[in-house]
Amino acid sequence: MKILVTGGLGFIGSHTVVELQNEGFEVVIIDNLSNSSEEVLKGIVAITGKTPVFEKLDLREKTAVQDFFKRHSDVAGVIHFAASKAVGESVKDPLLYYENNINTLIYLLQELQQKPEAHFIFSSSCTVYGQAETMPITESAAIQPAMSPYGNTKQIGEEIIADVAKVSGIKAILLRYFNPIGSHPSTEIGELPIGVPQNLVPFITQTGIGLRKELSIYGDDYPTPDGTCVRDYIHVVDLARAHVIALQRLVNKKNLDKIETFNLGTGTGSSVLEVITAFEKASGQKLPYKIVDRREGDVISAYANTEKANNILGWKTESTLEEGIASAWKWEQKVRGK
Ligand code: UD1
Repeated sequence: MKILVTGGLGFIGSHTVVELQNEGFEVVIIDNLSNSSEEVLKGIVAITGKTPVFEKLDLREKTAVQDFFKRHSDVAGVIHFAASKAVGESVKDPLLYYENNINTLIYLLQELQQKPEAHFIFSSSCTVYGQAETMPITESAAIQPAMSPYGNTKQIGEEIIADVAKVSGIKAILLRYFNPIGSHPSTEIGELPIGVPQNLVPFITQTGIGLRKELSIYGDDYPTPDGTCVRDYIHVVDLARAHVIALQRLVNKKNLDKIETFNLGTGTGSSVLEVITAFEKASGQKLPYKIVDRREGDVISAYANTEKANNILGWKTESTLEEGIASAWKWEQKVRGK
């Protein structure tokens, strides 16, 4: 069965391509290489022994998308990762985010709705919950007004998919990720942030390797056990596996609804200081850091209730925070030739 993976050379996309190929799916990747590199293909081939079809294509070009689906009329499903994800950038350039994350989704769905049946897996985010009132967060928690244009694109994206599924042969699973970290155990693929990393774990590993002077912890006066923010850090391989299980659920008609939503997290909240401790243990070295002001828009705490994903999707995480951090560190060392 042929599956299109948009953004398939990115961090989560590349790990998902590996898991799809290992499960026997035929993969076609579209990526515009705006935040990834063609080199990633080599890593995918090294792990799986299979070369996915790759087309450099920008999903904002509607005619190119139409043309792609003419050439690949046998695509049975799409896992849609391609999107921009930097919160700060989205505040500065909202239209870039609406164009990249919404127009592209519309063009894809316009093609898929012409098919009698199509499977669609969407990369959503726990950002849709904002600061949830109770922890851990269940899928039925209230959706809060988005705190950034990026967050808004995820909320609007979910709504668009639900509307289209109602009137077409499209069946969709919306996956709300918590905080993906780590790299493949083979160290053939991993996270490759361009420029200064905005996310915690790549900033930590780049500091550990000497690329950054020190980590700035954004606030230690939050109402949490140690004062730093709490998140749910999930190993990217666990996350990738969930996509394959979600796709198989649609293919095997096990879905209970045309639209289903699952949280993808570990269920455990970890503070910034706990992540640092895990890094220090994995690397055997101290991490230089300082406490600075809070970052605007950060929620205090967010971790997943995993019951629905465990019991209904039939998936659960296997790796610990320590394993995630250790693999991220191994990857950083490899990338920097150390
Ligand atoms: C962020 C986005 C989220 C998005 C996700 C995508 C914000 C507020 N949230 O999640 O909407 O879906 O990225 O990847 O931007 N931290 C530091 N120092 C740093 C970096 C981070 O202390 O240099 C702290 C943050 O305050 C936070 C935690 O580390 O408490 C995790 O931060 P990050 O990796 O940016 O993830 P989120 O903020 O959870």
